[in-house]
Amino acid sequence: MRVLSGIQPSGALHLGNYFGMMKPILDLQEQGAESFVFIADYHALTTVDDPDRLRGHIRDAVLDFLALGLDPERTAFYVQSDLPEVTELTWLLSVVTPMGLLERCHSFKDKTAKGIPATHALFAYPVLMTADILAVRGEQVPVGQDQKQHLEVARDVAQKFNRQYGEVFVPPVPVIREQVATVPGLDGQKMSKSYGNTLDLFADPRATRKRIMKIVTDSRTVEEPKDPETCTVFQLYRLLVSDAEREAMAARYRAGGLGYGEAKKALADAFETHFAPFRERREALAADPDGVAAILAAGAERARAETRRTLDAARRAVGLA
Ligand code: ADP
Ligand code: TRP
Repeated sequence: MRVLSGIQPSGALHLGNYFGMMKPILDLQEQGAESFVFIADYHALTTVDDPDRLRGHIRDAVLDFLALGLDPERTAFYVQSDLPEVTELTWLLSVVTPMGLLERCHSFKDKTAKGIPATHALFAYPVLMTADILAVRGEQVPVGQDQKQHLEVARDVAQKFNRQYGEVFVPPVPVIREQVATVPGLDGQKMSKSYGNTLDLFADPRATRKRIMKIVTDSRTVEEPKDPETCTVFQLYRLLVSDAEREAMAARYRAGGLGYGEAKKALADAFETHFAPFRERREALAADPDGVAAILAAGAERARAETRRTLDAARRAVGLA
């Protein structure tokens, strides 16, 4: 089974990215899946217009993934724009992509509603995403809930191309973990870079602690029993601790006598315990830019062998020489 996923370098990676997409694909790597992971820099161009910022975000996303356990021996790890075939494939796929399919995509509407310019690239974003997946023949794609519709586009487009030109592509399926499909942010809404409600994975630990203290809770007093299921603090805490710790905390919520301040402190400690070891690894990697560049070059070479094969087949199928 071949698994593939990508993430945009459009800002600091956060806990929602980690549980929604990064950890699922890293777990699949551990289970022995043939995995491909990439930094979607062509995609980020739709929202990041400052070249220096883009370069910084790419570097940070690469370091984050490697620090968190991506093993380049087992996972082909590359930057999207090192595979120019993907953009050519996007054109061949555009030819069979109905406008209506793209017009229905929530993500385009959400982004333009937030003031992001409505460019052709932003509109065609799901076709590029389809090409990312099909070029490398990714069969399973771990993502958070918000990417589900894009995966439906990818399946539709693959099937449409196959019907029109013969069987060239494997229609991919999303892998969405129920428990972490939408990790809440500090305000209880979906955690997202664009809502300013994130806990970033490699922020300064003191700043993270301060942000955790700002999580919005209800006004129950310390003594009152509380519902862990509706509390953002608990929803984040449970992701970071063992089953036993989770159940113990849930019982304390229900019993009363636990204040939100104490729960937040427990969350901050759990966050720190979970991510501190990765922080050390990240610092070591940051000190070795040549080593990191070599990893990405090797990953791109592996992925490119796949994309060339796919692109050749697609070109032949449509009648290009
Ligand atoms: P953001 O909303 O912060 O801009 P992205 O859209 O770049 O995040 O998402 C990158 C990946 O992380 C996608 O697979 C997405 O589904 C996943 N993801 C993002 N936020 C969350 C969240 N709050 N819960 C679960 N998964 C998430
Ligand atoms: N659109 C995805 C996001 O915003 C990133 C992405 C680009 C992606 N290409 C992909 C994810 C291919 C999975 C497969 O998060």
